[in-house]
Amino acid sequence: MDQLRVGIVGCGLITQVEHLPNLLALPELFKVIGVADPSAKVRAHLTDRTGVASYATADELFGQKPDAVVVATPDAYHADIIVQALARGFHVFTEKPLCYDVADARRILAARNKAARVVQVGYMKRFDPAYRALCDLIAARPAGPLLAVTVDVVDSDAWAYVAHRDLLTPDDVPAELVAEGRARRQAQVAAALGGAPDALVARGFAGPFCSSLVHDINLVQGLLEAAGTRLGAPVGAAFIAGDTGGALLAKLEPQDAAITMSWVAAPKVAYYSERISLVYADAVYELRFPSPYLNHQPTQLFERRSSGHHLTEIAHRPSYAEPFIEELKAWHAAITEGAVVVNTVEQAMADISLLAQFARLAAVA
Ligand SMILES: NC(=O)c1ccc[n+]([C@@H]2O[C@H](COP(=O)([O-])OP(=O)(O)OC[C@H]3O[C@@H](n4cnc5c(N)ncnc54)[C@H](O)[C@@H]3O)[C@@H](O)[C@H]2O)c1
Repeated sequence: MDQLRVGIVGCGLITQVEHLPNLLALPELFKVIGVADPSAKVRAHLTDRTGVASYATADELFGQKPDAVVVATPDAYHADIIVQALARGFHVFTEKPLCYDVADARRILAARNKAARVVQVGYMKRFDPAYRALCDLIAARPAGPLLAVTVDVVDSDAWAYVAHRDLLTPDDVPAELVAEGRARRQAQVAAALGGAPDALVARGFAGPFCSSLVHDINLVQGLLEAAGTRLGAPVGAAFIAGDTGGALLAKLEPQDAAITMSWVAAPKVAYYSERISLVYADAVYELRFPSPYLNHQPTQLFERRSSGHHLTEIAHRPSYAEPFIEELKAWHAAITEGAVVVNTVEQAMADISLLAQFARLAAVA
């Protein structure tokens, strides 16, 4: 199997906890030739721990001519760095959200098509064995309407689940770069929402919607495809105190069915709960995801049916495979073997476009 020379741009939490250790643990597939981050402390920390060369900018890293790059910077840098990487002929794995604004997604799409390189988006939950098993279960069901999908996430964020990891949080990123990142985000969010949104709407769109619910919107799209249905028009949405949470309501097509989704932060509670339920008249399926940072901890999948009062609950556990590792293997296979890309630019563009529609609804509610 071809070993790919990989560089990583942006070395904060997700790179230190997942992508760098996971790439290093797959030496037959990847050789990490360098990482880039504006924080000198992070660079020294990672080179010290791993021996991997570190650079202050993406451009310096790109000068080392990797075959492929992982983009794990703050969201507002994704589009420009992806386009630069593609222009230099590198394959790309980018963290979600792809970007905020559909115009940026179109720019990425054009660059990908011109370069004829692989771009995979980091929706790792699509590789979750329990999620895949649920897709198979519902695809194999006899015809019969899906009545409802409910998604319910309570999220303390990462702190409780990464405290035991060797994570260095940068405090030395130059102030001008921090300010530039903030200005970029503001401009991109305004462009995505078609105007100058108020501060709460901007935070709600960038935070709960594009950072968190984007995972669930994407997962649900895959489930609906397996179930032979799709999302209808968004019906309603709300932000909860700006960036503390968000809720979405939409119809399913073609039947009169509904989907509700909510994500709420509980920042001072060391607790993570993410549940997706699919309700049919004769069966209820439920996925319960652990915090994504608890690697190899399986997502639970329950299938519930009953004969009269007798309820049968089947707990499926297909494997202990880790989604954050499986997505890297799939990226490698897409690049080296032409395997079909899972999590495409097109899907990610549809996700952010839908979230912008929901955000506009929330803004007027
Ligand atoms: N798949 C998931 O579940 C998941 C989880 C967490 C984060 N993410 C995504 O990963 C990305 C990074 O998130 P994080 O939590 O690691 O953030 P973070 O703030 O911890 O890290 C970002 C890093 O990027 C660096 N940086 C800033 N500007 C840069 C630039 N121009 N070039 C290179 N590096 C730059 C910062 O110094 C920092 O080290 C985000 O897009 C986020 O949405 C995905």
